[in-house]
Amino acid sequence: SKTIGAFYRFPLVEVRGVPLMSLIAQNWSSIWAFCPDPSDLLIATYPKAGTTWVQEIVDLLLHSGDAEICRRAPTPVRIPFLEITSPHPVPSGLDFIKAMKPPRFIKTHLPIQLVPEGFWENKCKVIYVARNAKDNMVSYYHFDQMNLTQPDPGPWEEYVQKFMKGTLSWGSWYDHVKGYWKEREKRNILYLFYEDMKENPRREILRIMQYLDLSLSDDIIDKIINLTSFQVMKDNPMANYSTIPKEVFDFSISPFMRKGEVGDWTNHFTPTQSQMFDEDYARQMADMNIPFRTSI
Ligand code: A3P
Repeated sequence: SKTIGAFYRFPLVEVRGVPLMSLIAQNWSSIWAFCPDPSDLLIATYPKAGTTWVQEIVDLLLHSGDAEICRRAPTPVRIPFLEITSPHPVPSGLDFIKAMKPPRFIKTHLPIQLVPEGFWENKCKVIYVARNAKDNMVSYYHFDQMNLTQPDPGPWEEYVQKFMKGTLSWGSWYDHVKGYWKEREKRNILYLFYEDMKENPRREILRIMQYLDLSLSDDIIDKIINLTSFQVMKDNPMANYSTIPKEVFDFSISPFMRKGEVGDWTNHFTPTQSQMFDEDYARQMADMNIPFRTSI
């Protein structure tokens, strides 16, 4: 197997019932103890829901659409990943965060109950992005093939089962999207949908702008729409993860910026699988009506 230093396909270890990469579980007490500044902003998602896209939009909004400043460093350096823990001596998310001065933007994939309490106590702004389950899973399946630190996804058929059972890294998609949805009003969480962003990026970028108490001109918004389009981000080495060593992200298996579409699930699910999935979905989502769309 390919390894770089101490990187390999880490096993999952449960933290309060949620399967996480073993290094994250080992580092859990430091992650849980992290206390943000009230000015810090959290971007939370289930993996592959459109995190990187919203990170780029937020960075550009906060820097008035200045493309050059937003190419100052790769995404995970500009907007560190709270819980990610690397083998020593590679810096972890907390190392990056602690080296920065607030206000910081911080990414997390943690389900809401595992977000360090300081974020709520300090009333930090939180942007959540959700993506329909089928496309989210397809994206995760390809990512788990190329991300050589994640468990091997195995065959598609089995992957669908693991997704439904919630045994993938960061746990159940169903619990994740419901957990933030339930709290969005009480905790002032801006809850976005990937499909809405694809359908009308301007409308969603303006929602983010207003949530951040910013006011930018139409020209700047036009610029940000362009700079955060799939093709421009795919060609931007500071936004497309091409700076990650190929022993960690193997782009020859699948690029990070893969397709960026709504409805790619139709190319993966058989009709039987789709029906089985939908029936299970109806059961798992029966207690909450979240307006997901699997096509636009
Ligand atoms: P696909 O695998 O379906 O292409 P995350 O950043 O949460 O890991 O999500 C990655 C997914 O978002 C990938 O989906 C990626 O292509 C997509 N994505 C990233 N930037 C995007 C953009 N500007 N527009 C549309 N999709 C984007």
